[in-house]
Amino acid sequence: MKGFVTTPLDAMQVQKIAQLVIDAAHLAQEERNSRSFTPISAEDALSILDRGGWQQQTIAVFSPKGGVGKTTLSVNLAAAFGVLALRTTLLIDADMSRANAHIPLGIDIEEQPANLFSLYNRVIADGQRTGRYVLHAKTLQANARRYRGKLDLLPGIPRPHMAGLPEFVDDTKRTMDIFGEIVRESRGFYELRVIDVGPDFNLPIHWAALQEADTVLLVVTPERTALSDIAGILPTLEKHLGTLQKFKLVLNQFDEQFGITPKDVVKFLGGKVTIFGSIPYAPIEARQSINTAEPLVLQKRLTRAAEEIIKLGGKFYPPLDRIGEKKEVAKGPGLFKRAQKALAD
Ligand SMILES: Nc1ncnc2c1ncn2[C@@H]1O[C@H](COP(=O)(O)OP(=O)(O)OP(=O)(O)O)[C@@H](O)[C@H]1O
Ligand SMILES: [Mg+2]
Repeated sequence: MKGFVTTPLDAMQVQKIAQLVIDAAHLAQEERNSRSFTPISAEDALSILDRGGWQQQTIAVFSPKGGVGKTTLSVNLAAAFGVLALRTTLLIDADMSRANAHIPLGIDIEEQPANLFSLYNRVIADGQRTGRYVLHAKTLQANARRYRGKLDLLPGIPRPHMAGLPEFVDDTKRTMDIFGEIVRESRGFYELRVIDVGPDFNLPIHWAALQEADTVLLVVTPERTALSDIAGILPTLEKHLGTLQKFKLVLNQFDEQFGITPKDVVKFLGGKVTIFGSIPYAPIEARQSINTAEPLVLQKRLTRAAEEIIKLGGKFYPPLDRIGEKKEVAKGPGLFKRAQKALAD
């Protein structure tokens, strides 16, 4: 509600209407120009309903290969959800080999001991008293760090050697169960959960993340060597999870000059997984965004890579589709010109 008048409409109230319209138009313009504005028209709302609405989800970003862009995709997808679309989002850094999702977000993890290790430590300490390993809401909240908008980060282990500490290795089942608790408990606070999963799925936390996820975005790069690594693990994943249905391919660092088409990629992987999104090769932008701690999707001028990531986010939360098109909207005639035309018509 931007304003109101009261009845009876006396001279003062009528004057108030005029001012109210002007103020509301200013406010609307400000909101429209703000980057967090997610336009939803009645038409959009219907199309979302047509597609069965949107589902709150746990999305794991995974690849058995290092350095393919898992963290880049996780961070930017989470920023698109939590900052652009303003949906409550938790980014979980579950990469036990090199947790670094805080870096592209510019979050200083040395500032406070809030991370995956301190969370496990707390749950295990509580559990040893009670005999049950339960994650309480306050433990989750104490370990999550607010980034911007509605995006929180649960930082990963601050030092790689911690992956070998008793909290994680003494009892595999406990390690996996606690991870399940993180996903379950965070459902109560966050509409979307994005997990940056490390490459080695023999590690219990990585495996638990794949099991808990509703969707696994399998990041691949357009090289036969990388594809052969993926092709090699698909049968194992299928055997242990029963189906590959929740696995969706994201082709990252793609350029047609590399001599392999998206169709070739699917064929190379035996047609078992389909392409869900494709992000262009953008080495300068990708590195700049990490070094300046400015996620691609939050930059003033969206690059093609950012637009593709936002589009990918739109497959989970459809109104995001419109954000990439915003520039075109701005190019059209202004509000005044349109009002003038409407009146003339
Ligand atoms: N679309 C892209 N085009 C070009 N370079 C990219 C793209 N996406 C990511 N990169 C670059 O690839 C490198 C690895 O990215 P990132 O850290 O996201 O990968 P990762 O899979 O998480 O790696 P790790 O296995 O070490 O966790 C970075 O230098 C990043 O800038
Ligand atoms: Mg990474």
